[in-house]
Amino acid sequence: MIDHPISAPGIEPSLSRLRCIGCGAVHATVEQDFRCPDCSDLLEIFYPDWQNRGTMQTTAPDLEALKPLWQQRKTSRLAIDESGVWRFRELLPALRDWNAATTLREGNTPVYELPSCARITGVEQLYAKHQGMNPTGSFKDTGMTVAASFARQNGYRWVACASTGNTSASMAAYAARGGMRSLVLIPEGKVSWGKLSQALDYGAVTCQLRTDFDGCMQALNEVVKRMPVCLLNSVNPYRIEGQKTGAIELLEQLDWQAPDHVIVPGGNLGNASALGKAFLELLELGLISRLPKLSVIQAEGANPLVRCIREHGGKELIPVQAETMATALRIGNPASWRKAVRVLEATGGAVEQVSEVEIAQAKAEIGADGIGCEPASAVTLAGLKKLVKQRFVKTQETVVLILTGHLLKDPEFTLKFHRGDLFRGTEHELEAAVLASHQRAPIILEPNVDVIVKTLEQAEKNGPTK
Ligand code: F0G
Repeated sequence: MIDHPISAPGIEPSLSRLRCIGCGAVHATVEQDFRCPDCSDLLEIFYPDWQNRGTMQTTAPDLEALKPLWQQRKTSRLAIDESGVWRFRELLPALRDWNAATTLREGNTPVYELPSCARITGVEQLYAKHQGMNPTGSFKDTGMTVAASFARQNGYRWVACASTGNTSASMAAYAARGGMRSLVLIPEGKVSWGKLSQALDYGAVTCQLRTDFDGCMQALNEVVKRMPVCLLNSVNPYRIEGQKTGAIELLEQLDWQAPDHVIVPGGNLGNASALGKAFLELLELGLISRLPKLSVIQAEGANPLVRCIREHGGKELIPVQAETMATALRIGNPASWRKAVRVLEATGGAVEQVSEVEIAQAKAEIGADGIGCEPASAVTLAGLKKLVKQRFVKTQETVVLILTGHLLKDPEFTLKFHRGDLFRGTEHELEAAVLASHQRAPIILEPNVDVIVKTLEQAEKNGPTK
């Protein structure tokens, strides 16, 4: 029997503090809105002792011991070891009691090769880290387990978020798991049924507001000032810490050899901030020897970061009226834009935008590799094609796409796509002609064996691309 102590001998939990990303002030306590009381910018968690490694009184992790320890935990039956987030707890803020973590055994998501997408893009070493394989079907779970655990530790009875769907599904699940109640604010008619139904099933008080995501966020910021509810959007820095582990786990899966490029969709920009923070911390700690370039892809109709970089040198973000069929990304005023700009600058990554038709095509191409994802995730492949054309990504380089959500999150999009209805009657109808070879509408037949066999023969004759 292997003994699995919660903290390994010689490895102490890391000491963590909250710091403002704008004015740098360090705060002992945090306001309900998770913003700096001095300058209103976002807060981030940092680990003061990591800078003092080698000195006597340090809680910096014993680096040599960490990699085998994280591996060994995979064989443990302890809940926090089974979690692909808490398994890396030496790089997370410490809970008073590790066993009190609210976990659904999140993380532990696969890295897939994408042979057919590799052929399409010319990038031979192309991988997908599929964060849609998390318990509620999106990457949000990795951050939510940490933020919900701290909300619970701090005695909150209520948690709340504004959402384009995935955050609410995840938050509702973790709230239920942790014995807390949850309030969800979502834009009416703009959230996929899959995501909405999750929030309902996990028992959230779900309010569909007649506004967009940005309007929901604005309303929630006022609600948290009036009621003792814990805000679980990604302005909550504990969310970012949990989401870091997607990057740590990715590096572990690649034997700690950093890929050349990691490509991520950009909405509220929490995920880009989190993954970039992880890469920078891993480099600082010496767990990797070079940084991947982290690039962010947005939908053309929801592109405030792209415009911020191209038109304002990353100094100013002008909110946009967001519109895209990739509903998860329908965000015009992303909260974490400053954190994302910092990550782009530090890693040398790019920003790019892709059209609605490009997103739909890329989604079908990822599906053809037997994996599938929701539309928002497919912007990564669509963006990669552009970055290869611009030679920002070289075909001999290693590229990892972060697929953020599961195919089943938005089946309506997929059905409309295959029936040819997605762009019918829209301004994109002509451009959408390129999608025909990817479309496979369901075929309605009589239960007649001859007819079925004929259909099969016809499909064989047409080949795999129709
Ligand atoms: N992909 C999916 C599937 C998402 O749900 C989101 C964001 C993103 C990408 C963008 O990530 O916001 O960290 O830049 N979804 C939000 C939500 C905001 O409410 O579920 P981001």
